[in-house]
Amino acid sequence: MAERRDDRSYSFDPVYRHLLRARELSQNDDVPRDLKAEINRAIELCQPSPALDHLIKETFAYPWEDAHKEGRVSYYATPRMLTGNVEAQLIKLITSGGKANMVLEIGLYTGCSSLAMAEALPKDGKVVSLEIDKGIADVARSFLNRSPVGNKIEIMIGPALNSLEILAEKQMKFDVIFIDADKTGYVQYYRTIFEKDLLASEGTIIVDNVLKDGDPYSGEEYESNSGAISEFNEMVLRDKNVHKVMIPVRDGVYLIRRMEDTEKA
Ligand SMILES: C[S@@+](CC[C@H](N)C(=O)[O-])C[C@H]1O[C@@H](n2cnc3c(N)ncnc32)[C@H](O)[C@@H]1O
Repeated sequence: MAERRDDRSYSFDPVYRHLLRARELSQNDDVPRDLKAEINRAIELCQPSPALDHLIKETFAYPWEDAHKEGRVSYYATPRMLTGNVEAQLIKLITSGGKANMVLEIGLYTGCSSLAMAEALPKDGKVVSLEIDKGIADVARSFLNRSPVGNKIEIMIGPALNSLEILAEKQMKFDVIFIDADKTGYVQYYRTIFEKDLLASEGTIIVDNVLKDGDPYSGEEYESNSGAISEFNEMVLRDKNVHKVMIPVRDGVYLIRRMEDTEKA
């Protein structure tokens, strides 16, 4: 039977999407019980929280084109920008691993990764998420308010570089920093994080889209965002002060820590 095309939620998590469909198709009594159990076990391996599941579905259902036409958001904010479930689970796991309390996200959109990271924080933990577009931030706030941990997420509206300056003036430090805004800003965000001492001791930087559809490594011509990512990747590669690993989840994720926090011997 052909895959249904009506619900685009989990487009970026094809394995999870196919498993959900398999569960749906296996509901009738003819299907052996142990097969149903196996499908459910596989789903549990990558299942989002109910709140995250809801937020992902709401993001896909939201009328973004109308919102743009009516001037409520400044551009067509396609759900393609969403981090997606599996990557959000990875980011959540990293956040939960290091006794993190303060998290910074550069690039909020509808709050998928903010929510996943907030779920991993203790009660007094906080996510500060930066978003340039007030309309998008309003949509995110309305989604996040419906989750049990939405109160841990503070949204700062404005260009990320300005917000970083404000956070640095307040001498704030973050245990996890997730960079996921405009790709042409990545180099400057990275430099600012270290120059302004925004990364806490033992902190981790996570950077999204570092594979940029494979462009930086294809040897072919590419558009400006891919060029910006190439420049960023090269800068991180040459940075002797950090330990880093690039992992091929979704569009590529860089994990970066200070060398002194990884080389303990
Ligand atoms: C790829 S989306 C972020 C996805 C999000 N991290 C998630 O978990 O789904 C990038 C977001 O960064 C915002 N953005 C773009 N340029 C920005 C800037 N200069 N300052 C702050 N936010 C910016 C965009 O409006 C968009 O909402």
